[in-house]
Amino acid sequence: MIKLLSDEERARANRFRFDDPRRQFVICRATLRQILGAIHGVAPQDLSFQYGSRGKPELLSQKPNSIVPKIEFNVSHSGTIGLLAISVGAAIGIDVEEYDPAVKFLQLAERFFAPLEATELKSLPPEKQIDGFYRCWTCKEAYIKALGDGLSHSLASFRVAIDPDQPASLRHVDGQPDEPIKWTTQSLNVGENHAAAVMVHRQECQIAQWDWPVA
Ligand SMILES: CC(C)(COP(=O)(O)OP(=O)(O)OC[C@H]1O[C@@H](n2cnc3c(N)ncnc32)[C@H](O)[C@@H]1OP(=O)(O)O)[C@@H](O)C(=O)NCCC(=O)NCCS
Repeated sequence: MIKLLSDEERARANRFRFDDPRRQFVICRATLRQILGAIHGVAPQDLSFQYGSRGKPELLSQKPNSIVPKIEFNVSHSGTIGLLAISVGAAIGIDVEEYDPAVKFLQLAERFFAPLEATELKSLPPEKQIDGFYRCWTCKEAYIKALGDGLSHSLASFRVAIDPDQPASLRHVDGQPDEPIKWTTQSLNVGENHAAAVMVHRQECQIAQWDWPVA
């Protein structure tokens, strides 16, 4: 798979100190190239990426005179799971998190989430709080990743639904009352002890999920 990567990506892979994150990066980037290459009718190794000011990758250019509208994508990896989200013409963000039993999630929520979210999390039955925390975290990450903002965006400046038994949604964005209705949010089932969510900048859209075998 490493043969599909650019020189710059191979150099980045070589800078990882540990094997697992290196492997994760190589597999995700090579698979991203395979899928985007298939969509655009271009060999995977011929695609070029550019990066936003906060590091969000996007395709440098599509084929001249392509009839294919702009393809947006986002990648997330955690543990052994890599997710790739693709949309046609709408900003998209995705996040997957493997549950970490050592995480003091109520403290993290109080520190980083909006105060109402932290209160709502504490009011869930204790056995649902860890699911609620990761539901909230992945939705928040998916939103800031769709915007391309990364950690520059305050996690307390917007709210998402917390209850893991309810549909995921963007609830409130400070100073932008119309923002929540412009987004489609979906939590994704990616297996036990993991949470994942995708957000698309479109009022309504169909989200399909499929597995991609990795050689
Ligand atoms: C990029 C960021 C938003 C997410 O990083 P992360 O959750 O550690 O990692 P993920 O696996 O979900 O995403 C990484 C991928 O997102 C993409 N990415 C990088 N910068 C991005 C940005 N600014 N916006 C959107 N996507 C970005 C890249 O494709 C990257 O994968 P690659 O390097 O293999 O190409 C980063 O700013 C970050 O570190 N967030 C952590 C926030 C946090 O600590 N939250 C605590 C909540 S309690």
